[in-house]
Amino acid sequence: MSFNYLSAAEAASLVKHGYTVGISGFTPAGSPKAVAPEIAKIAEAEHAKGNPFQINLFSGASTGDSCDGILSRAKAIRYRAPYTTNTDFRNAVNRGEIAYNDIHLSQMAQEIRFGFFGPMDIAIVEACELTSDGKIYLTAAGGISPTICERAEKIIVELNSAHSKNMMGLHDVYQPLDPPYRREIPIYKPSDRIGTPYVQVDPKKIVGVVEVNMPDEARGFTAPDPVTDQIGVNVANFLAADMKRGIIPASFLPLQSGVGNIANAVLGALGRDKTIPHFEMYTEVIQDSVIDLMREGRIKFGSTCSLSVTNECLDEIYSDMKFFGDKLILRPSETSNNPEIVRRLGIISMNTAIEADIYGNINSTHIGGIKMMNGLGGSGDFTRNAYISIFSCPSVAKGGKISSIVPMVSHHDHNEHSVNIVITEQGIADLRGKSPMERAKTIIENCAHPDYKQLLWDYLKISSKGQTSHCMKAALGMHATLTEKGDMKLTDWAEFTK
Ligand code: COA
Repeated sequence: MSFNYLSAAEAASLVKHGYTVGISGFTPAGSPKAVAPEIAKIAEAEHAKGNPFQINLFSGASTGDSCDGILSRAKAIRYRAPYTTNTDFRNAVNRGEIAYNDIHLSQMAQEIRFGFFGPMDIAIVEACELTSDGKIYLTAAGGISPTICERAEKIIVELNSAHSKNMMGLHDVYQPLDPPYRREIPIYKPSDRIGTPYVQVDPKKIVGVVEVNMPDEARGFTAPDPVTDQIGVNVANFLAADMKRGIIPASFLPLQSGVGNIANAVLGALGRDKTIPHFEMYTEVIQDSVIDLMREGRIKFGSTCSLSVTNECLDEIYSDMKFFGDKLILRPSETSNNPEIVRRLGIISMNTAIEADIYGNINSTHIGGIKMMNGLGGSGDFTRNAYISIFSCPSVAKGGKISSIVPMVSHHDHNEHSVNIVITEQGIADLRGKSPMERAKTIIENCAHPDYKQLLWDYLKISSKGQTSHCMKAALGMHATLTEKGDMKLTDWAEFTK
């Protein structure tokens, strides 16, 4: 079949007000980049005429500025799910302008497939190759592409020559069966292949192909600093000690690592610690540090949903498939983050917290309990099902005015029942087998910054005794003090116990 080749503007004109649009990608990697800016132009033109124009937008995870950023600025998004990282999008959400639903990434595809979000009008998918019989070869991410292509009435393909055709073969496209007769997903080690290297669609659904040459809008990282380096060393020391005492098998276990600066620093430290054997990753995002460690032989294999690497790093992978071809697999997020696989493979999860409370509850998403940061991502998919779940963060934020260890988290993403280990640059709190009060003592002693230790000990003194001791009037007192006085250190518990 021959396809209809369109300009990005012509393709965008197929998207109407009120449409539900699914897009490829997971992080800016693999997201379409040409059509969304044209949709934004249509929205702006319609708004100028006094007409409404907004879409509902679904993706595997975050996108780049050319999607979430431009569409937010054009006020073209009514509803969005799941994870995002764009600043303008975040600000629009926090002004209440966009209905944002932050759901577990493993669930995104199946909730679309089960019809939880209604019909999908159009899918926009980035590809490095497209065949006349409807085989779409994805680029740097698996995301939710198989599901949106299946569910959408129409498909637009952005054929992006900035992505090498060498990507063909790295993907392993698979969708689980629907309940109640779903079988186990037959991945028994990170390198198992179970699907096809392409997404098969009915070619008649492809209403337009847009040829582009646009590199991914890759994010750079802040270079590790002494604090993130120390967090990394603490994580590595913890894992080495657990291996030495036989809790982690000598062959080691597959690792999942989250996004961001801290995750990058943690992986760097793990690679440097030679007491940790060469290891495999079963994760959702591979950042530059993983590719460096593959080159050094420290990481043997990486199963991921996306190659969220800098463009230089992506080019390095494309130009050396002889080396990377048998060391990487890209999967849809429904597989990369699947709780059943996480539990079965015994994955060690390593994610970053915004704040942790003294009992081991984690806030990954909200600043001060109110403002959305990025979202949950896959942290819950992995944490709840991990062999060992680790959260790390610096003990203080914003120059020390905020303690990341607080009496009660201002928003709960991961609760005390799922969190095994909390690590800051101050030290390691091993929460396994401990009661809430034992956990509180360990977290305050080992993880809190010295400036905040006494404040936290004093909080326990004013708390009513119980299974989980709290003073309900003061539980968010450090947050309230930050809002009123600009520094959590100025907290005076007497003000909350009058
Ligand atoms: N209160 C207020 N701000 C805080 C804070 C707190 N307790 N803790 C961190 N911050 C701010 C930092 O100051 C920084 O702000 P800046 O951008 O203005 O400098 C920002 O949050 C990011 O923190 P940083 O220390 O640079 O860490 P990071 O880049 O590793 O990001 C998360 C940390 C938590 C935001 C990030 O890991 C995330 O979005 N996690 C949730 C999703 C997830 O876990 N996915 C995992 C599977 S991929």
